[in-house]
Amino acid sequence: MPRLSTRFSAFPAYPLAHIPARKKALLAAGVDVIDLGAGDADLAPPAAAVAALQRAAEVPAMQRYGFGMGHVPYREAIAAWMQTRFGQRFDPMTEIVPLLGSKEGLAHVAFAYVGPGDVSIIPDPAYQAYLGGTLLSDATPYVYALRPRTDFLVDLDEIPADVMARTRILYLNYPNNPTAAIAPRDYLQHVVRVCRERDILLVYDNAYSEMGFDGYVPPSIFEIDGAREVAIEFHSLSKTYNMTGWRCGWAVAKPEIAGALAKVKSFTDTGQYMGIQAAGVAALESWSRFVPGNLATFQARRDAAVAAFRAHGFTADVPKATMYLWMPLPPEIPSAAFADRLREEAGVIVLPGSGFGAGGEGFFRISFIQSGERIAEAARRAGEILRLMQQELAERPAFAGASA
Ligand SMILES: Cc1ncc(COP(=O)(O)O)c(C=O)c1O
Repeated sequence: MPRLSTRFSAFPAYPLAHIPARKKALLAAGVDVIDLGAGDADLAPPAAAVAALQRAAEVPAMQRYGFGMGHVPYREAIAAWMQTRFGQRFDPMTEIVPLLGSKEGLAHVAFAYVGPGDVSIIPDPAYQAYLGGTLLSDATPYVYALRPRTDFLVDLDEIPADVMARTRILYLNYPNNPTAAIAPRDYLQHVVRVCRERDILLVYDNAYSEMGFDGYVPPSIFEIDGAREVAIEFHSLSKTYNMTGWRCGWAVAKPEIAGALAKVKSFTDTGQYMGIQAAGVAALESWSRFVPGNLATFQARRDAAVAAFRAHGFTADVPKATMYLWMPLPPEIPSAAFADRLREEAGVIVLPGSGFGAGGEGFFRISFIQSGERIAEAARRAGEILRLMQQELAERPAFAGASA
């Protein structure tokens, strides 16, 4: 039996990996499942992107390896969009890295910047690619709990000096998954200042840049003075254009940083299918026509979700961005137990806060990936399970509670 590496053996299980199998089993048993789990909307991609993919499938030259360079018009469309959207000019060939979805880039960039003895600061709860890249690089994660106390921001001034001294990467994601928090500009200015003082790579995950509500327009980190010295920003077609399965994103940074990521990738992949990159061009070109309507759908779902969960006994803040509600549970209800019972007894899939890291305990997340009506029905079932769990706890003999 081939022996697993020490690194692999120490790897935690991917949280929530069991959910798709449980969903399949529930559906097979005839349960009316309402899945509000993954950030994976039920909405259609832009028609122009689908048409571009269909056209590309007929072109022999598009069927070959894209390699790192990929489909050059995709790089050019990204550069044009970064200019239109954020007023930031980037060179398409040296400052943009096409990705197979932003997840792989977020993980792979760690290979270029951290190794044994180095620290990556990782928010907790967070998207798991940050931890994955850090552990695969044999570096040390320093997890910082995102709690309401700091408005779900990483306060760098609270991180011990010896940790800061070893920190080579800071992962940040605003608008944030899963907490839906946004970052004020003066916060980002402080972060950039600290990263510049300490030569820390700021990995800024901007997957939700196009999902701001009520007039809130999320910034690029590059709108902050000095960010180009230290930052790499990740973008994705997944959420903006309902193209999660297409695996298409990009990173943007000055040539030295972009080049480091591109070099890692040259050893691990050979580029996204160029037909999908051509579809990416069409998606980016449809931005001003497609995004407002899509966003209005998410905003209506957000409003339906907030109203319904509040009506059924939950506390729900109105998020200014993302496709998520991050709701606190009463302290006596563990998030994994709540999510498990809600799924198994009521057919509703939500993600427990602890699935995003220990710092997420006490919360659960829903995604706006179904209609407002279905979300409202999910809220009704969630309220019933919550009341049931609270009732069971209240009826439990005191000594049992003490030993639990
Ligand atoms: C914060 C965050 N970053 C990155 C991603 C990855 O997106 P992609 O589909 O581009 O890999 C996700 C997906 O859920 C996410 O929530």
